[in-house]
Amino acid sequence: MNFLEERIVKDGVVKKGNVLKVDSFLNHQMDIELFDKMGEEFKRRFANENINKIVTIEASGIGIACIVARHFGVPVVFAKKSQSINIDGDVYIAEVESFTHKCKNQVIVSKKFLSADDHVLLIDDFLANGYALQGLISIVQQAGGTVEGIGIAIEKGFQYGGRTIRNLGYHLESLAIVDGMDPETGEVIFREQ
Ligand code: G4P
Ligand code: NA
Ligand code: NA
Repeated sequence: MNFLEERIVKDGVVKKGNVLKVDSFLNHQMDIELFDKMGEEFKRRFANENINKIVTIEASGIGIACIVARHFGVPVVFAKKSQSINIDGDVYIAEVESFTHKCKNQVIVSKKFLSADDHVLLIDDFLANGYALQGLISIVQQAGGTVEGIGIAIEKGFQYGGRTIRNLGYHLESLAIVDGMDPETGEVIFREQ
């Protein structure tokens, strides 16, 4: 097990409905030492990619992205979620469905902060069905930029997002891939990587 898998075993809580709660270290209270290790690991895994910007999505992606960005020496742009239909200004927009919240959001990034010159590393905390990521990919594409890689903290391997994204040919690295969880015993099964 790597450091993140170990932490999930120690402090993650398996909930009914295939939900893994990691709010004591990842997406509510945040363990910055852990994020720093994640940054170091992403830097190692994406050492061959030429990255000049990190793009993530609010809210939980932002903290991780900021610490990861220290390891790449690049700025972070976070996509904003908005339910309003009349968004003004010069923005890239993608429609994103939320599995957990059962709603649709528009995800927006100002055209000022993404262009065809950008070589982007996408960062997020979770990958489940991949709708959030597909939205971010669409936004980078609209800008004419390049997605050089995708770094995820926890991938839920039993949902289809990871497969979809890899089949599209993206360099996707997930620090922990959860292939199964048992709410009765609290057991988490990780994919060997
Ligand atoms: P998808 O983008 O991969 O399709 O994700 P999905 O709609 O399935 O998930 C919606 C939200 O729920 C995402 O956050 C995602 O990070 C989160 N999520 C999915 N599965 C789990 C899980 O097992 N545990 C936890 N803790 N979170 C999970 P969000 O609500 O869109 O954003 P945020 O504001 O929380 O960052
Ligand atoms: Na997220
Ligand atoms: Na989340």
